[in-house]
Amino acid sequence: MEAIEVEGLQKQFDPPKGPVAVNDVSFEIHEGEVFSLLGPNGAGKTTTISILSCLLKPDRGEARVGGFSVTRQPEKVKGLIGVVPQDIALYEDMSGRENLLFWGRMYGMRGASLDKRVDEVLELIGLLDRQKDRVGKYSGGMKRRVNIGAALLHNPRFLYLDEPTVGIDPQSRRSILDKVKDLNAAGVTVLYTTHYMEEAQELSDRIGIMDQGNMIAVGTQGELVRLVGERTRIDVALDRDADILAGQWRRLSGVTSVSEPDDGHMSLLTDDANTLMPTLFENARTAGARITEISLAEPNLEMVFLHLTGRALRD
Ligand SMILES: Nc1ncnc2c1ncn2[C@@H]1O[C@H](COP(=O)(O)OP(=O)(O)OP(=O)(O)O)[C@@H](O)[C@H]1O
Ligand SMILES: [Mg+2]
Repeated sequence: MEAIEVEGLQKQFDPPKGPVAVNDVSFEIHEGEVFSLLGPNGAGKTTTISILSCLLKPDRGEARVGGFSVTRQPEKVKGLIGVVPQDIALYEDMSGRENLLFWGRMYGMRGASLDKRVDEVLELIGLLDRQKDRVGKYSGGMKRRVNIGAALLHNPRFLYLDEPTVGIDPQSRRSILDKVKDLNAAGVTVLYTTHYMEEAQELSDRIGIMDQGNMIAVGTQGELVRLVGERTRIDVALDRDADILAGQWRRLSGVTSVSEPDDGHMSLLTDDANTLMPTLFENARTAGARITEISLAEPNLEMVFLHLTGRALRD
């Protein structure tokens, strides 16, 4: 039995015309791993997490968490999971400590054992010294840490984090990523969602790439990158955004994909980097642009997404 098993999940909002947020999605999460759902806005990540949290019923399909059905045994599932939602939900007028006490009572915790666990969690999220301040005075990163703390109070076996680093400063981001790694090392199985390729790469044992409700690929980073085949990635920086070049380069033989220009940066996938490079310089010169940097690298997850969808992950 896998720790989490998802089979043919389907969810359409406002049928029959509404978006199919999750379309026949299946995947497994092994006990003890960090599994990331990577995908752009609207991919269906939050909808998937909501179904696995028993907050939303699927139209079709089934998911089991720790062997329990999310549709038929939601109370069992809820006891096993800690959920850090995408939108921070805290009482701004209460202190960090009071917020955690509130969530602990929601989990049925009481008295001295709750107090002790809140102390531990405050220590874990690094907010012991600010525990008595109103949450309204916290930074975004501190609020996010309280959110994470709330999900950890009942020592869950599974932790879901839905884009926990969006909109916070780099230092808080770093501390959250490190905390996720620590928790995972301590035995917590993690389901993480993000649209940042770098985070998925850094954290995950396995990654599911989602797009427009579909699970388009699942595997380790190595397995996913191999989907791109024996290709090289060429990263080019230009002194200006030259949209015309993206079009020209897409038509070159030996080029399989070209990302949308982003602030003068473009990436290409090719079977034959050596032959191609002089052409790139030549085309740039003709377009009145200058290549200021060029480098060769292995394909990354961004390239896997581009290869599978023809679009950039950032969009
Ligand atoms: N409550 C809702 N009612 C109607 N449509 C919804 C609702 N929630 C999500 N959707 C739609 O379902 C699709 C998937 O949304 P979802 O929030 O699961 O994506 P996501 O991958 O989490 O995106 P993001 O990275 O922006 O958080 C989108 O088209 C979205 O507009
Ligand atoms: Mg979301």
